[in-house]
Amino acid sequence: MPASSASVDATSPDGRTEISLATANGQPVYTVTRDGKPLIAQSKLGLRFASGANLDRGFEITETAADSHDETWQQPWGEKRTVRDLHNEITARFTSTDDGPERSFTVRARVFDAGVAFRYEVPDTGERALVDEITEFAVEPNATSWWTPAGEYNRYEYIYKTTPVRDIYRVHTPYTLKYDVEGADGPYLAIHEAALVDYAGMWLDQRRAGVLEAELAPRHDGTKVKIDGAFKTPWRVIQIADTAAGLVNGADIYLNLNAPNQLGDVSYFEPGKYVGIWWGMHINKYTWGSGPDHGATTGNTKRYIDFAAENGFSGVLVEGWNIGWDGDWFNNGDKFRFAEPYPDFDIEALSDYAANKGVKLIGHHETAANLPNYESQLDAAFQLYRDNGYSTVKTGYVADASDLVLEDEEGFRRYGWHAGQERVVHDLNVLKKAHEYGLAINAHEPVKDTGLRRTYPNAVSREGARGMEFNAWGSPPNPPEHTAILPYTRLLAGPMDFTPGIFDLMPNGEDNENRIQTTLAKQLALYVVIYSPVQMAADLPENYEANPEPFQFIKDVPADWETSIALDGEVGDFIVQARKDRKSDDWYVGALTDETARTVSVPLDFLDDGRSYTAEIYRDGEDADWQTNPYAITIESRTVTAPDTLELPLASSGGAAVRLVAGR
Ligand code: NOJ
Ligand code: CA
Repeated sequence: MPASSASVDATSPDGRTEISLATANGQPVYTVTRDGKPLIAQSKLGLRFASGANLDRGFEITETAADSHDETWQQPWGEKRTVRDLHNEITARFTSTDDGPERSFTVRARVFDAGVAFRYEVPDTGERALVDEITEFAVEPNATSWWTPAGEYNRYEYIYKTTPVRDIYRVHTPYTLKYDVEGADGPYLAIHEAALVDYAGMWLDQRRAGVLEAELAPRHDGTKVKIDGAFKTPWRVIQIADTAAGLVNGADIYLNLNAPNQLGDVSYFEPGKYVGIWWGMHINKYTWGSGPDHGATTGNTKRYIDFAAENGFSGVLVEGWNIGWDGDWFNNGDKFRFAEPYPDFDIEALSDYAANKGVKLIGHHETAANLPNYESQLDAAFQLYRDNGYSTVKTGYVADASDLVLEDEEGFRRYGWHAGQERVVHDLNVLKKAHEYGLAINAHEPVKDTGLRRTYPNAVSREGARGMEFNAWGSPPNPPEHTAILPYTRLLAGPMDFTPGIFDLMPNGEDNENRIQTTLAKQLALYVVIYSPVQMAADLPENYEANPEPFQFIKDVPADWETSIALDGEVGDFIVQARKDRKSDDWYVGALTDETARTVSVPLDFLDDGRSYTAEIYRDGEDADWQTNPYAITIESRTVTAPDTLELPLASSGGAAVRLVAGR
């Protein structure tokens, strides 16, 4: 290409979406259009540092290159087996025009049918502190958007708000928008990032109406990213779809923007469902700490292992098994001992007992976000788990968002942010170390998911939004619309360990604020709607034993999928999700709604032509209603074929779960 092109463009394979890179008075900028109409108005690009030259003004484009890519690759486990990466790419080298020492950087942009993405590639300028990424996303200020606040005391665990863009201050990503001004019915956008490695997590800050700027979570010293040598930023991603379901179906864009598997064989991890000593602590039946109500006892764990074996669960999570929970653990993370069980938890005997029953224990490391304490014990902790046949560990980082405990280069105790660079680096080190010991990680209070499971497929699940636990003690608990928002926001990023399946919907009594604001059938729907390769049946065994018919669905539903299709939905209102089992020809459908009752029509045209299926339908009963009659459930069975349409009536905060068993 000739020197100094004014602008360069790339178009999506379907020809509908275009990104253009340019300079405006020397300021690097980009714009995005869809069907020829503006989607992201001219927005700034650039990086600023604490010392040395900035990469923001005084540039021209001096070199460009175009490329395109079409590759199909496979996931070892996942919401789908095969993923197609089809995109067009453009790179632009920006070079300084002033007389000073030459400055340059490259922006690489990729355009998929499902959205656009770009990243900065910066040559080596030594050791520096990045203090500001000035990337903007100039969106429609009156678009409706769904968000949780960023940079506040909690990490990601907030009730979602629904407001016009112009009313937000600072939000987490994925940040989902619907361009619905003047009666328009879309498109839908989600702004997020992919491949967050050795960098800081991105929040979005509204600077002028509709102009969102990347705001990086700070390091302990207030700078944003410590740089040493050449670096690449994470991809800045704008997912685009005509429908809300389209956003869900396009979310493999994040996987495609991550590097291929670098760990190799992770067959030590098998997707599966688990039960555990967990909900009992959240509803104050058991304690994590020692004492008369200690949950993690040898006897209690055996009872859970028996229950798992009898009902086909592959895992048993046990929390509160190790020294450190007594006292104010939230503020005393340095007390946790990850290789020292409480005396009433006989880890060797239990791992033998579990192995004999074909069940695996799932480990738990609550760190209270004290990174040095955890890091100093990682080898011993993982060795203990390997020696005892564990293959998955749930980690936890409970602490206020800016109170992550760190140690700086001089060994002083410092405080950092949950999505700050130090935590991002820590999490990846934990994954790599866990792989050495044949362990997969399910992180709670995690760094947000950015698709790293492609590169590190032992990153199996995580939390990163309000899960079921908030219904036990959150004030207020999760509202009916919560799980009708998650699929279009948090879940775009990747699997979530939400821990569904509570059958006793009022564990604290009928008058308590903390009750589960769903019907029973909606609890079943969550197993299909929320993807996680480790899926918990979270309630107490006795509550499943008392309800064997609905429990059958939880026993049947897989946790690993051949393919997944979001069929219908609207953000905050409802979703209809279909998934095909990886190990059989059976399909599953989950549908759920917010507080508004509705009937959803589900055309079964995804089924094999000419084949008949037995539909086992678990749906809200006639008068079901989450407030007045949450337990009413109808379970029925009928034969269906691809031309049929299922009509599923959903009660207020209700749902439906369907197993479609393929005939031979
Ligand atoms: C918060 C996690 O989300 C929850 O699952 C866990 O039980 C507690 N922390 C204790 O680690
Ligand atoms: Ca949590």
